[in-house]
Amino acid sequence: MARKEAEATLERSLGLFDATAISLGAIIGGGIFVVIGITAGYAGSALVISMILAAVIAAFTALSFAELAAWQPIEGSVYEYSRQLISPFAGFLAGWMWLLSNTFTGAAVALGFAYYLTAVFPVLPSSAVAAVLCIAFTMLNLVGARLSALLNNIFVAAKVLILLLFIILGSFYTSPANFTNFEPLNVGVLYGACFIFFAYIGFARVAVLAEEIKDAKRNVPRAMLLSLCLSTIIYVLVGTVAVGLVGATKLAGSNSPLADAISATGSTIGVQIVSLGGLLATASVLLTSILGVSRMTYSMARRGDIPRTLARLHRRFCTPYYAIAIVGVLMTLLVLLVDLTKVVALSTFATLFYYALTNIAAFKLKTEQRRYSRLVPALGLGTCLALLAFTLFAATQAWVIGIACLIAGAIYYATKNGLQKKL
Ligand code: ALA
Repeated sequence: MARKEAEATLERSLGLFDATAISLGAIIGGGIFVVIGITAGYAGSALVISMILAAVIAAFTALSFAELAAWQPIEGSVYEYSRQLISPFAGFLAGWMWLLSNTFTGAAVALGFAYYLTAVFPVLPSSAVAAVLCIAFTMLNLVGARLSALLNNIFVAAKVLILLLFIILGSFYTSPANFTNFEPLNVGVLYGACFIFFAYIGFARVAVLAEEIKDAKRNVPRAMLLSLCLSTIIYVLVGTVAVGLVGATKLAGSNSPLADAISATGSTIGVQIVSLGGLLATASVLLTSILGVSRMTYSMARRGDIPRTLARLHRRFCTPYYAIAIVGVLMTLLVLLVDLTKVVALSTFATLFYYALTNIAAFKLKTEQRRYSRLVPALGLGTCLALLAFTLFAATQAWVIGIACLIAGAIYYATKNGLQKKL
């Protein structure tokens, strides 16, 4: 009943362009602007190979997501799919890890934004800037998907244009000497893939808003695949030009690697524009993180997996205002406590966990419900688990915290269900 009411009141206001932009808004952010430096530290001048490897792993899961979204475009995405096709407990864990991944990503990119801004205006306290940003973007999400999607489209256009400018301007100043020691078979390339995978997280964001997309059965799968293809092409070109400009060692030692790379052209305006790109990119990832987390909270609440009050929609704006407000408050608190680099690995751990469940769910679709062979989700699951295992070595702490969060979720679920049975 609660679900029917919710479905009747969510607005289908977003087309294919908005849908693709929502995923691109979630994809292009701190990964390409910041984590590319960490990747260069591991993979050296072969960092593009790490990028391609991560993109291939993401692509298998994206195909599984596309399959599931075409079957049933429902708000809540992986949570609903795992719940229906695997088990209610698997669904809960998928949603739980999804919330964890996105809340931490949102807090991290808010901090990333603050660091970029305070580099230009050192008088500003970075955690306060990040907190104000979280509150402002929470308010935007409160007044409706249409307005936040409009703002998101502007951010996406700007950051893509800035990355294109980086590629075009930078390509005139690259030097083949910066590609010496190109070792694509080095184990560092695998570690690099663990980190740069963060840069692709977000392609499925649009699936969480499926009930707000026009012609969702077609547009949601298309938007996911389109956004992943576009971002892969942009990343590979940016990675090649960045290494060609300054070499992997310089990238690895920088907190703003793309700004430092473009400075090799001698263009001050180029540096300023690329720095602006870093600000816009982190801001747009934050915007879609709040949008996505609030919708996942809403989906889980309307099923009663977390308190149902969170599913209540605002009478005027038709948005799940309790859920959005809570997410905003959590992110605001996190920016005061969270270490930027650790949360990248933690976010990746949580994401790979629910991607693995997505592939299992896609594998379980009946033959008549599917368009691809079962080999696709099998490869998706295998590659996600392999990367997850590798993350254990690349970021052991993220594994420990991730497992602790999983256990906390499982205890909450068991306690809630145990209490319900008793009452
Ligand atoms: N893919 C997102 C980013 O790079 C999480 O910021």
